[in-house]
Amino acid sequence: MKISVIGTGYVGLVTGVCFAELGNEVICVDVDKEMVDKINSSITTIYEDGLEEMLKKHMTRGNLRATTDLREAVEKTDVSFISVGTPSGLMDYIDLKYVEKVTRDIGKILKDKEGYHLMVVKSTVVPGTTEHSVLPILERYSGKKAGKGFGVAMNPEFLREGKAIEDFMNPDRIVIGGIDEKSTDILLELYKDFKCQIMKTNPKTAEMIKYATNSFLATKISFINDIGNICKQLDIDAYEVAKGMGMDSRISPKFLNPGIGFGGSCFPKDVKAIVGKAKEVYYKPAILNAALELNELQPLKLIELLERNIGFLKGVDITILGLAFKPGTDDMREAPSIKIITSLLMKGARVHATDPKALNEARKIFGEHERLKLYDDPMEAVKKSKYIMIVTEWDEFKREELYKGKVVIDGRRVDEAKVAEYYEGVCW
Ligand SMILES: NC(=O)c1ccc[n+]([C@@H]2O[C@H](COP(=O)([O-])OP(=O)(O)OC[C@H]3O[C@@H](n4cnc5c(N)ncnc54)[C@H](O)[C@@H]3O)[C@@H](O)[C@H]2O)c1
Repeated sequence: MKISVIGTGYVGLVTGVCFAELGNEVICVDVDKEMVDKINSSITTIYEDGLEEMLKKHMTRGNLRATTDLREAVEKTDVSFISVGTPSGLMDYIDLKYVEKVTRDIGKILKDKEGYHLMVVKSTVVPGTTEHSVLPILERYSGKKAGKGFGVAMNPEFLREGKAIEDFMNPDRIVIGGIDEKSTDILLELYKDFKCQIMKTNPKTAEMIKYATNSFLATKISFINDIGNICKQLDIDAYEVAKGMGMDSRISPKFLNPGIGFGGSCFPKDVKAIVGKAKEVYYKPAILNAALELNELQPLKLIELLERNIGFLKGVDITILGLAFKPGTDDMREAPSIKIITSLLMKGARVHATDPKALNEARKIFGEHERLKLYDDPMEAVKKSKYIMIVTEWDEFKREELYKGKVVIDGRRVDEAKVAEYYEGVCW
């Protein structure tokens, strides 16, 4: 098929490259010219294992390219996937301005385009967006009727950063929320080689499945952190408790690691967005609000524990192992490291931070700060201080020699750190 993917961030670039791998002809579109130029030079703008190799392969083959020219991309393809950002807006309501802008622009292009075109929303959008916002905008700007001149579908993305290609190629399920049979059938054809379950539903339900999934996983993390905080007070190892719980097949061990909470571009904003959507229908989701509230302060438990051990942190050198919100990515959006470092700097500490992939992101976030130094080599970073906080569980930090003779406060259960002179975990 001929496919255009609009918005080439984490989801869009992975989607474009993977659809090319599946034998389609793909045009990626972004407003960011620098990003487009890099993609056309086979350079990925994000870190994701295996992505650059696949990008190179399809650039060389000629079945993938990037452009800033939306009109050309839509005119030359049959299906467009929207994968622009859907950040938090005012009072945590979802901000749909990027989705609406692309939709208006595509609507204008469809006005002049001959033949049928399918528009697929892959961005995470609150229930009702595809049918009550995207569809009417397309109709208004194209002057055509949905279902006749063009089709519309919602196809949520469930990939995890750090495992994005693996997840895209081998998903647990694919959810297709088409407005009609024709829209659904085109996506079924596109996904025909996938071995997983494919669920057909309406767009609103597809949208809600994505939010319900992320809200459940975020709540599971906050739940085990809640249990972990109680365990800490009772001198019980929360990891042992989680292990025992996870053996129950109704519960499963996944997303059951007590620690310093969830971050990233999805869980925090998506839970907030569905809480915001619930407000519109006069409902206050008690469990989701509690999951968010617990997550707010959980990263700062590392600081609380260190203060309990050594008192004031003013003038103290502290090493932070890990900046990305999880291993395998350079993404620092809503990363616990941001809260921890900001708080340490506010308290007057000197921070020495290291991460295998996220140093450039950290430079963008923190800029120049005289009490914050960033290091490529974790060994260099740990040499600068007696006190270490483990924030991201990269394999690079699973080395005993980093911790010998140190005071370690661990937010991620890195067993190798237990050789430290003093070791304490956030929930154990
Ligand atoms: N990151 C994830 O792990 C993940 C997983 C599943 C779903 N999602 C959802 O997918 C969507 C995209 O997320 P992301 O992390 O890839 O975002 P991102 O911020 O990394 O990328 C969005 C891209 O869209 C581009 N863009 C904005 N307006 C545009 C326009 N008018 N035309 C063309 N390009 C435009 C931006 O320049 C940017 O490159 C969001 O709704 C997100 O919630 C993300």
